[in-house]
Amino acid sequence: MRPLTAHIDLDALRHNYLQARRCAPQARAMAVLKANAYGHGAAACAAALGDLAPAMAVACLEEGQALRAHGIKCPIVLLEGFFEVSELDEIITGGYWSVLHTPWQVEALLERLAHWPQHRLTVLIKCDSGMHRLGFSPDEIQNICQRLRTHEGIEQTLLMTHFATADVPDNPLLTRQLETINTLRSRLDLPGCFANSPATLSAPASHHDWVRPGVMLYGVNPLERHHPLHDEINQVLQPVMTLESRIIAVRELPAGEPIGYGARHVTRRPTRVGVVACGYGDGYDRHAKEGTPVLVDGQRVALAGRVSMDMLTVDITELPEAGIGSRVTLWGRDASGATLSVSEVARWCDTIAYTLLTGILPRVPRCYHRSDAPKTLIDAGVLP
Ligand SMILES: Cc1ncc(COP(=O)(O)O)c(C=O)c1O
Repeated sequence: MRPLTAHIDLDALRHNYLQARRCAPQARAMAVLKANAYGHGAAACAAALGDLAPAMAVACLEEGQALRAHGIKCPIVLLEGFFEVSELDEIITGGYWSVLHTPWQVEALLERLAHWPQHRLTVLIKCDSGMHRLGFSPDEIQNICQRLRTHEGIEQTLLMTHFATADVPDNPLLTRQLETINTLRSRLDLPGCFANSPATLSAPASHHDWVRPGVMLYGVNPLERHHPLHDEINQVLQPVMTLESRIIAVRELPAGEPIGYGARHVTRRPTRVGVVACGYGDGYDRHAKEGTPVLVDGQRVALAGRVSMDMLTVDITELPEAGIGSRVTLWGRDASGATLSVSEVARWCDTIAYTLLTGILPRVPRCYHRSDAPKTLIDAGVLP
């Protein structure tokens, strides 16, 4: 088999989830599992968090259906709500909690609820407190909440918002968003669901009744590097995905020889080049720059030359022991315990960890590890 595998440490996922709970002890934490659990495999991650998380959140009904198909029973929040009226019957009867962010969604839902008198629904009414992406303005929300509250088909309304800058310390926009949403929450006397990962970790004033951690569950520190809590959080979170492969060929080149497409890298000294089975056809970012760190047998080496579709090349001149079959860690935790954070790799690609993790393509097999469970969920019969 091609040696590239994304190893998913489900114990680390559970550990990180519990860190979110520890940071916001008064709140309940819905696990955000959208985009296939940020590339980690939503069904497996949901199964691993099943006994911990009182609710899970996905982007849309299709993602929710995939979790239901794998036996997930808890409420599933649809973060973008619904896109078509045809989704409503399943939302109403299937235990979904829909976000409502536009007037037509409110009208359509209330109209459809009339067809299901025996069902009562929880909804999240989204306020645009300053990010200006989705949501009602604070002025619009009062009337809508009044209608929802008095509608007998609505069991519970949560007030929701999303923060644009919670990862940055002392950010004036976060202060403004918090002021707006906390004032509104007190006025409307509704349960609040505001905090993403950075707010869960660093803004207790945002916690209230529910927090919505996403990326931190996967071991990514969401705080900016100059945030005063950044280093502490690094100690607390554990990487969940380790992207691992092997060296499949070695080239011994004299100085002055090009490596790979476009001859971007030209050797400056006699160089040993390791060819690694991993490329942009697997989701590894083609924009990774010269020097992007990679672990070979737990030691840092540098990317040399362009990433191609199925392979990339690293300079292993300093590692005479390394050769065909040597273990390569593109990010995550190496078998020896050495770590390379996906955030660090992302900086070398001028992107963020979110895009690298969600970008790992289906052809990369995910191998799930959990200390008290069979090695893979395929073995356990959870996944087909
Ligand atoms: C509405 C909403 N809530 C929560 C999250 C989780 O955010 P994070 O991954 O930064 O914790 C996201 C992710 O983008 C989101 O869109």
